[in-house]
Amino acid sequence: MPALQLDNVRKVYRTGDQQVVALNDVSLTVQNDEMMILVGPSGSGKTTLLTVAGALLRPTSGGVRVGGADITDLDDKRLAGFRREEVGFVFQSVNLVPFLTAKENLLVVRQFGGSRIDTQARKRADQLLDELGLGGRGSSLPSQLSGGEKQRVAIGRALMNDPSLVLVDEPTSALDSALGQQVMDLLRREIKGRGVSAIVVTHDDRVLDYGDRTVRIVDGALETGAQ
Ligand SMILES: Nc1ncnc2c1ncn2[C@@H]1O[C@H](COP(=O)(O)OP(=O)(O)OP(=O)(O)O)[C@@H](O)[C@H]1O
Ligand SMILES: [Mg+2]
Repeated sequence: MPALQLDNVRKVYRTGDQQVVALNDVSLTVQNDEMMILVGPSGSGKTTLLTVAGALLRPTSGGVRVGGADITDLDDKRLAGFRREEVGFVFQSVNLVPFLTAKENLLVVRQFGGSRIDTQARKRADQLLDELGLGGRGSSLPSQLSGGEKQRVAIGRALMNDPSLVLVDEPTSALDSALGQQVMDLLRREIKGRGVSAIVVTHDDRVLDYGDRTVRIVDGALETGAQ
């Protein structure tokens, strides 16, 4: 069963009488254990593809299957539950909660799911922070962390609930070359080590080598042969 399957997905944004076709008949399969890299010009639909794949946005038409389950027709509550349990997001703008420490930023995703923050959750957060080279920074606030450290906290948060699908938007945009490579190394190790799948969006040529496959999107359509 593929980790993710998009079938003829269209996404049209409407604002007033304006209409933007952000995804135009996109079909794509991501296999288990696959790290797919998504590239394309600004405004080509990369972030939209991630948000549809991760059930943050419903497609205007077309089907979305994650781990074989069709999520297209789930109601809002089920969709939110699905997102919490199965999907880890690293957003383009990182989005850490500014008044929570690094470790609390990881733990808070457990609370969103209604689970208690128990010893096991704390252990998991500590372990992830260690693996991400942030062992000593668990009690730091985001404002006390560098750009690369914040990005790594965001990656830890995305992995906290053991998702089956990790969606990452521009993980290295704020980082210099060495840090960017370090973050990609960590991401690949986490993804391969846990047998999850990932789509990583990037403008950064240096990131391409880390993926199993590169897919290009232009004007909301995938390059032919990409599926
Ligand atoms: N909420 C929205 N409402 C209306 N139009 C939107 C919205 N979000 C994105 N768009 C439009 O949809 C198209 C695709 O946007 P998207 O954010 O997916 O591009 P992107 O490839 O991620 O770009 P970038 O590389 O700059 O992040 C663009 O034309 C954008 O202006
Ligand atoms: Mg984007």
